[in-house]
Amino acid sequence: MQDVGIIMNGVTGRMGTNQHLIRSILALREEGGVELPGGERVVPDPILVGRNERKLQALCEEHDVDRYAVDPELETVLDGDDEIYFDSQVTPRRPEALLNAIDAGKHVYCEKPLATDLDEAKEVARAAKESDVKHGIVQDKLWLPGLMKLQRLIDHGFFGDLLSVRVEFGYWVFTGHVQPAQRPSWNYRAEDGGGIIDDMFSHWSYVLENLFGDVETVSCLGKIHIPERVDENGEAYEATAEDAAYAIMELEGDVVAQLNSSWTVRVNRDDLLEIQVDGTEGSAVAGLRECKTQHHSNTPKPEWNPDTPNEHDFYDDWEDVPNNQVFENAFKEQWAKYIRHVVAGEPFPWDFREGAKGVQLTEASYRSWDEGRRIEVPELEL
Ligand SMILES: NC(=O)c1ccc[n+]([C@@H]2O[C@H](COP(=O)([O-])OP(=O)(O)OC[C@H]3O[C@@H](n4cnc5c(N)ncnc54)[C@H](O)[C@@H]3O)[C@@H](O)[C@H]2O)c1
Repeated sequence: MQDVGIIMNGVTGRMGTNQHLIRSILALREEGGVELPGGERVVPDPILVGRNERKLQALCEEHDVDRYAVDPELETVLDGDDEIYFDSQVTPRRPEALLNAIDAGKHVYCEKPLATDLDEAKEVARAAKESDVKHGIVQDKLWLPGLMKLQRLIDHGFFGDLLSVRVEFGYWVFTGHVQPAQRPSWNYRAEDGGGIIDDMFSHWSYVLENLFGDVETVSCLGKIHIPERVDENGEAYEATAEDAAYAIMELEGDVVAQLNSSWTVRVNRDDLLEIQVDGTEGSAVAGLRECKTQHHSNTPKPEWNPDTPNEHDFYDDWEDVPNNQVFENAFKEQWAKYIRHVVAGEPFPWDFREGAKGVQLTEASYRSWDEGRRIEVPELEL
């Protein structure tokens, strides 16, 4: 049994606490660590880093973690023996923090997006590539059960020729005027790295690329539907970042993807994220955990006739894809793979170049909105 030291910066945040500390690192510790190919186990040993000592202390006490350091001590921590630096701070603070960690020879793993602009993302990706460090970026949606079921269908050749993909993502985020908002206020301030394009398009980049093919062009319209929100302190502020985005992307192989991303939509579907895939041989609709299919041979033949009531239940024509396996928390799955990559050299394709591609698509989408036209997304040169 061996330990791997992990510096966790930004761990007092929503993602840092819930997904990375509690559901990943502490869960892996409770399981006795990550199993390596030879059967040996490696146990993650976190040191929590943040700006607020009180919050760090409380987190440590609540979860029985014995090491923390406040932000100004980070430099000293980077000089220590911990092998991995992890970053889930707000995005604008990430590139510099990653560059410092790479400079200190740490292996680096971080939340998406890698940076708020492509030049910075490329600089970080280049620095990681040119050093010996192992680098990885969170691409958690790939381990959602619904998307893993979609991948299984693709691997079985279920769809025939792929035609189109429709992504419907979103839910109502309260403005804070009457009921408190369920997302941090910086998400709605462009100057703090907010905006749904910035938040979600780095996800769409790897989801589309891994399942269906590289994105070749994007047309995107963003909107600030709600111009004023109320922050964590009850203060009204101007929303300067888009709370919805409507995009069409062309993928390699002549596949068309349409993506609606919105924090200003009320849910009338099975899940907060729904992906419909249509192919010549069959279609599927995946949510976060479930996935249903309709094969060509089971496809009904609807006739357009608004003059008579619809008596056909279209939902009945779909069949559930069974689990057939145990699905673990998506973040924990990827953490275990990253730790095996660092300690045992297992392949880990979700690296900073992929992270930079997410930023490239995000930037191209903002440009498309700004210029009111379709933008090409060329192969990324670092
Ligand atoms: N993978 C995913 O599904 C997913 C989902 C949401 C957010 N994220 C990413 O995770 C990161 C953190 O997002 P979050 O939702 O946890 O945010 P959050 O506001 O809850 O947490 C932000 C963290 O950064 C720290 N921080 C440092 N400087 C700050 C500043 N000037 N203002 C505010 N906080 C500051 C905070 O102390 C906190 O620890 C972002 O980069 C975001 O894009 C990823």
